[in-house]
Amino acid sequence: MKVSLTVNGKPTSIDAPPDMPLLWVLRDVLDLKGAKYGCGVGQCGACTVHLKGSPVRSCQLPVSALQGAEVTTIEGLSPDGSHPVQRAWDEIDVPQCGYCQAGQIMSAAALLARNPSPTDAQITAAMNGNLCRCATYHRIRDAIHAAAATSAVTPSAPAATTARPRQAGTPRN
Ligand code: FES
Ligand code: FES
Repeated sequence: MKVSLTVNGKPTSIDAPPDMPLLWVLRDVLDLKGAKYGCGVGQCGACTVHLKGSPVRSCQLPVSALQGAEVTTIEGLSPDGSHPVQRAWDEIDVPQCGYCQAGQIMSAAALLARNPSPTDAQITAAMNGNLCRCATYHRIRDAIHAAAATSAVTPSAPAATTARPRQAGTPRN
């Protein structure tokens, strides 16, 4: 199935089976390895990306639903890792193993774009679907507060990039 979509600000065409999940498209077709496979059933959040600025589980979105989609991955959240959430993640040194962190950052960025100053309860509610086996939850909450305090967070405004430098929350595969 041929589909045209925008990924990280770049018009992209793919030809893939209609039931292939977006996560597979990102990782195996487009070589964007930031979003991770955790559960494959929409329960862990490791595969979270933005669809028109809203967080979605890319393991649950089939190619057949992607015509005209605007997708942003951790690689496109900012051109150089300077998104306020990424900076806060670095400052607070949030990750442990790192596996869940791209998904955590994408959910946090979407939260702050719609609610620039969330309470602890609002953070807990918004981040509830992003699991962390290393239990970095306290640092995630602190980093979201730090990002909220440092600047207004706008919805993801991806910049097309040719290089893919490692960014905060993007562990090496
Ligand atoms: S891999 Fe998609 S929610 Fe777990
Ligand atoms: S940092 Fe290891 S799973 Fe979250």
